[in-house]
Amino acid sequence: MGSFYEKYELLNELGSGSMGSVDECVEKETQIHYACKKIELRLDPWNELQWMKNLVHDNIVEVAGNYQDDKYVYIVMELCRGGTLYDRIIQKGAYDEPSAAKVMHQIMNALQYCHETAGVCHGDGKPYNMMYNVDDDEDAVLKLIDFGYTAKVTDAFSIMNDGPRVDVRDAGVILYSLLYGEYTDRTPIELKRRVTEGTFDLYLMEKPILISQEAKDLLVKMMSEDPNNRPTASQVLDHPWIKTRIHDDDSSPQGDSSEITRCGECCRIL
Ligand SMILES: Nc1ncnc2c1ncn2[C@@H]1O[C@H](COP(=O)(O)OP(=O)(O)O)[C@@H](O)[C@H]1O
Ligand SMILES: [Mg+2]
Repeated sequence: MGSFYEKYELLNELGSGSMGSVDECVEKETQIHYACKKIELRLDPWNELQWMKNLVHDNIVEVAGNYQDDKYVYIVMELCRGGTLYDRIIQKGAYDEPSAAKVMHQIMNALQYCHETAGVCHGDGKPYNMMYNVDDDEDAVLKLIDFGYTAKVTDAFSIMNDGPRVDVRDAGVILYSLLYGEYTDRTPIELKRRVTEGTFDLYLMEKPILISQEAKDLLVKMMSEDPNNRPTASQVLDHPWIKTRIHDDDSSPQGDSSEITRCGECCRIL
């Protein structure tokens, strides 16, 4: 198989996290660029590698090869040039509902595949762990990355109690971020309370954000405290908000301005 360094040249760092760094690399023979996640053997990279190699889906990053020397495992994967979903949320602020639904549709398709076809729970569904393959808004495809916390659905029940529905809750937090343009480390319980009670700090919003009742309904269900009350990935995909909004164009109206009233320090969205 040869060593990683015989076949590839390492270039700039793309990102780093708890498992080490991810660098851009180029295959010497073809000049094709990839991303390479280098994980120290002492951090036990085998679980992550195994899942990444086994999961094949349009919305999951594709592995091109893997290598090992006496210190590291190198996972060579498709290069996502479009940045993380986190970058986009920070850049764009609040999404309109059709755009948010299109993002959620891709995330939930990947999760449905993980839970129902592959029998695994991703376990770390943050916007840093979702990337766009290209830097082009129209055609960019969202890819799930980072399978460091992935576990079999059956094991996930004992590890995280919530089983695969932990991913649904994490996706609910992402839906909140997309709709309100705010990535926050508030707990899902706090976020749910903000959505149901409708109180938001004015300084967070340049203009009032109107969210449709259907979007709020899905959001609140996905962030239910009791995992049994959360929808499955398939049920999210079947929710009327996703089903209708993905077909709307971005200028479709959302929310109803009669739903919003202002009060002193806060903005109340009913
Ligand atoms: N395929 C990829 N293409 C481009 N950048 C990537 C790719 N995979 C990871 N990255 C970058 O590296 C960061 C860390 O990767 P990740 O797999 O999440 O590592 P960790 O397990 O350490 O969190 C990501 O947030 C992203 O910025
Ligand atoms: Mg990560």
